[in-house]
Amino acid sequence: MFKGKVVIVGASNVGSAVLTKLLDFQLASEIALIDLNENKCKGEALDANDATSCIHSLNIRTYHGDYSDCKDADLIIITAGPSIKPGEKADRLILSKTNCKIMSSVMSEITKYTKDALILMITNPLDVATYHVSTQFDYPREKIIGTGTMLETFRLRRIIADRYHIDPKNIHGYVLGEHGNSAFTAWSTVNVAGLGLEHVDEYFHFNDKLDKKAIEQALVNRAYDIINLKGYTNTGIAMVAARFTKSFMYNEHTILPMSAVLEGEYGLSDVALSIPRMICADGIVRSFAPHLPKEELDLLYASAESVKKAIASAKE
Ligand code: LAC
Repeated sequence: MFKGKVVIVGASNVGSAVLTKLLDFQLASEIALIDLNENKCKGEALDANDATSCIHSLNIRTYHGDYSDCKDADLIIITAGPSIKPGEKADRLILSKTNCKIMSSVMSEITKYTKDALILMITNPLDVATYHVSTQFDYPREKIIGTGTMLETFRLRRIIADRYHIDPKNIHGYVLGEHGNSAFTAWSTVNVAGLGLEHVDEYFHFNDKLDKKAIEQALVNRAYDIINLKGYTNTGIAMVAARFTKSFMYNEHTILPMSAVLEGEYGLSDVALSIPRMICADGIVRSFAPHLPKEELDLLYASAESVKKAIASAKE
């Protein structure tokens, strides 16, 4: 029976932000928080609980849980494991070995209690962790999905919208591939309110051309810029998790650029990358392989190679 129960694994900067967003958007009926640091976990759960008795809030219970709470969970959001810290190499892939080990211990606990819940991966390196969880455990693959390049795509929308002073919701298209340094903007998919990108500067009377290279670099650097400023990122990724959860909880059939193990799309199958996927209450119901021009296909395959290398290094 669908209960609207969410389990969040990891109560640090990202996990606590996800908890807050799910409360703010009222996207669960109960939320169990799990973390090795029991005091942090209890504190976050108690703090969140205070927010659930406001007039506007649904009666959402939040509490310090344990893995047995996965038994009747509809959605498990995995945020456990370290993130890139200020001064570290600006490449999420350096976390591969460490966080795949942590994913193994998390999944060995989860699979004791359920194989029905949808699993949303957030832990970085996202695609490597998603591939590891999808292939190292007997768990329905269509129920394991990573936030992927949703965040880069949100960032792209914001950058383009700010240039033309329009609503980011008018920007359509995708950043695809790795959630990381080899992510690429599939410019062939991008349009502004249905207006072809090649004419947008004309429509908005811009004399300078949209600088695609500068935008691509900004997208790759954005997380590291934030990490160097505040020490970590959490708000953007938590909103991504909320957006996904809404599509799941309301069975929306939304198409979002998210990561999962490819099943032959673009001739790839032994890697997880972000491509457009249709999300509903059953998880991924369809994946799409947009027709990409050669220069974008080359970037996709380069991204696949980069993630595959990290997958291999995590196994060494
Ligand atoms: C970022 C983290 C979630 O891009 O990888 O902010």
